[in-house]
Amino acid sequence: MRQKLVAANWKMNLSCAEAKRLASSCVELIPPKLDVEVVICPPFTLLFSIQEVLRRSQIKLGAQDVFWIQAGAYTGNISASMLLDAGVDYCIVGHSEKRGRFGSTEIPTHLLSYFSESNETINFKIKALLDKFIQPILCVGETLKERDAGNTDTVIRTQLEGALHGQEMSQLHQLVVAYEPVWAIGTGQTCDPKEAGRVCSYIRQSLSEILDPDIANFVRILYGGSVKASNAKEIFSQEDIDGGLVGGASLDAHEFSQICKEAAI
Ligand code: PGA
Repeated sequence: MRQKLVAANWKMNLSCAEAKRLASSCVELIPPKLDVEVVICPPFTLLFSIQEVLRRSQIKLGAQDVFWIQAGAYTGNISASMLLDAGVDYCIVGHSEKRGRFGSTEIPTHLLSYFSESNETINFKIKALLDKFIQPILCVGETLKERDAGNTDTVIRTQLEGALHGQEMSQLHQLVVAYEPVWAIGTGQTCDPKEAGRVCSYIRQSLSEILDPDIANFVRILYGGSVKASNAKEIFSQEDIDGGLVGGASLDAHEFSQICKEAAI
């Protein structure tokens, strides 16, 4: 039986004071005995402050990205060793907003190459995290154009294969996968729960073929993309959905705690 997992992705939001207030409210509102693993992923600059707030709670700390080399002359980057030092247990990898694949965006097309995450860099990042026993939350998902062309499953399969190729099998029970259809992120447009469930089952089937059936059965698969308290219950009731990766709604402690409670039911 896989324990449900709900992760808050705060993205590039909040001052230190606002973040501490939000984290404290989450600690207050999410019952400690809830049978759900809860993770908060603040921006890098807030990791140490939020770790302090979460220290005496059941809520775990996550990061939003990592660089794959552990130390050296890599200006502007943060390594898995540094995340470990900050008390991080989880790290998002391959988010569509790092891959340069946006659902709705104000970024001019000619600047999209700045967001240059590829399946190969994602593969390196997962390896670096697993080596430090930080659990990767690998994001996969199709754009609207890819969905309309009937390529959803192929796109996801390619992303999974690229990310997992050559990884050490004995470490992969730590993996979490998040299915995040790009067109549903931050748009208010949620994927139909049954279709989200179908894609998550396809992900589990693919993991079974790429890795091994035991690992596939163990790995938690989350859904992300406009999850709210009002739609969480139906999404989390799908057989192969083991929780959610929550962006916008995680910036409101009441909404987020309600989503966590829906995962426990
Ligand atoms: P959203 O974001 O909940 O705001 O759609 C989810 C995510 O990008 O992880």
